[in-house]
Amino acid sequence: MGANDVLARLNSSGFLQTRGFIGGKWVDAYDGKTIQVNNPATGQVIADVACMGTKEANVAIASAYEAFQTWGKTTAAERSKLLKKWYDLIIANKEQLGELITLEQGKPLNEAIGEVSLGASYIEFYAEEAKRIYGDIVPANLPNRRLFLIKQPVGVVGAITPWNFPFAMIARKVGPALAAGCTVVIKPSELTPLCALAAAELSRRAGIPPGVVNVVMGIAPEIGDALLASTQVRKITFTGSTAVGKKLMAGAAGTVKKVSLELGGNAPCIIFDDADLEVAIKGTLGAKFRNTGQTCICANRILVQEGIYDKFARALSDAIKNFKVGGGFNEGVVLGPLINEAAVQKVDTLLQDAVSKGAEVLVGGKRHGLGFTFYEPTVISNVNKEMRISSEEVFGPVAPLLRFKTEEEAISIANDTDAGLAAYIFSTNAQRTWRVAEALECGIVGINEGLVSSEVTPHGGVKQSGLGREGSKYGMDEYLEIKYLCLGNL
Ligand SMILES: NC(=O)c1ccc[n+]([C@@H]2O[C@H](COP(=O)([O-])OP(=O)(O)OC[C@H]3O[C@@H](n4cnc5c(N)ncnc54)[C@H](O)[C@@H]3O)[C@@H](O)[C@H]2O)c1
Repeated sequence: MGANDVLARLNSSGFLQTRGFIGGKWVDAYDGKTIQVNNPATGQVIADVACMGTKEANVAIASAYEAFQTWGKTTAAERSKLLKKWYDLIIANKEQLGELITLEQGKPLNEAIGEVSLGASYIEFYAEEAKRIYGDIVPANLPNRRLFLIKQPVGVVGAITPWNFPFAMIARKVGPALAAGCTVVIKPSELTPLCALAAAELSRRAGIPPGVVNVVMGIAPEIGDALLASTQVRKITFTGSTAVGKKLMAGAAGTVKKVSLELGGNAPCIIFDDADLEVAIKGTLGAKFRNTGQTCICANRILVQEGIYDKFARALSDAIKNFKVGGGFNEGVVLGPLINEAAVQKVDTLLQDAVSKGAEVLVGGKRHGLGFTFYEPTVISNVNKEMRISSEEVFGPVAPLLRFKTEEEAISIANDTDAGLAAYIFSTNAQRTWRVAEALECGIVGINEGLVSSEVTPHGGVKQSGLGREGSKYGMDEYLEIKYLCLGNL
């Protein structure tokens, strides 16, 4: 199946939208400007999409604000039913959505369809949770009073999302936002806007009212600033880099908005001498190489205890030698391309820095013969904390191995970072896994497990990896305000 055939099919089924979605209508940029979306596996232009900025963002905000006046007052059952319809349509079209992800983001098709299922699961989960937004009755502090707590939607939400999970990151925000009664202005990454637009098209087909879901993309700082400046936008939810997250947090201060941030990670993956080697290899492969190493919870530093180090390094190198690299539509491909040339250069720079400071390349270590943005799956050994790769997200298929002696040393290396999103531990000693999991400064710990994401569990970080949680019953709190009602003088 070629990318061009896929594109033609998506176009004829209405899944290839290229305009912004505002107030239930497809709209061009006011000045007609467009930006190109490329297929990272071939460099080919897939589509020209509307390039929007301040003006369109303000129209989208106004439309979301107007829609909020009614959507915020619908019953939970009504919202739940519409979300469920949206979920059903996503599942019914998961192959097409998967194809769109592979086209604009590059991940292998089966992984892309997996992302659609993951994203859909958030919408289904929050369709159910919508009916469980309970308040409280508080025992009164005076005899002639009754005290009630009710939960109300925050209002209009600005949702800014990254390119690495162009569908799931939107679903993880919009699912709970809509369930709570909020309306949204989505700003997807300019590298991958097509999934957001297709998701909006399906929300329209599901009967979600105009203005409840809006999508604008183009000049990111202009759209971001419009969302930050507006007093009608009451919350910013962001997934992306720590640098942009900090800017948004500072910008939100001007109008004192609620903010949740899912930012970059620097996950340690700790392999103890007593690990089950097979489980550790399988888990590390999942945690490191999913999405060609381009996830926020990717194992960024693989800490290996000295007794198992050589055996683990050999087994990991052997395992990745068999990885098939290629375009996401090719049968059996495990690793797709990186998102763009800048990403390849970053990976290469971090690798060269490590090698110049004494790291040894065990396998891979350079651009792939396929060209474009393909990079060889790589393992490097003898990494230490002086190397940039220990403190910066590599966001590519490079596994850096660091040697350690004791449990205390592993914890200390693992926590020696400003990030604190995910961590992984491989050990067959139950006491140790518990001890280490509690000592790690992060929001998520995989214990003898490399793939941990799910709609039923909270995703989020500590330290500079973010604020707030997405997914699970806690994810809904981010879109709700608690109002206290005091009934006096009984
Ligand atoms: N913690 C998580 O759950 C999570 C999940 C996925 C990705 N990430 C992180 O995201 C990063 C990769 O994504 P990215 O490269 O797209 O990140 P990015 O910060 O460059 O971009 C994210 C989004 O912010 C927008 N943006 C950029 N500048 C802006 C501005 N001034 N105002 C408003 N919006 C602006 C971009 O257009 C994009 O939509 C990695 O650091 C990764 O770890 C985190």
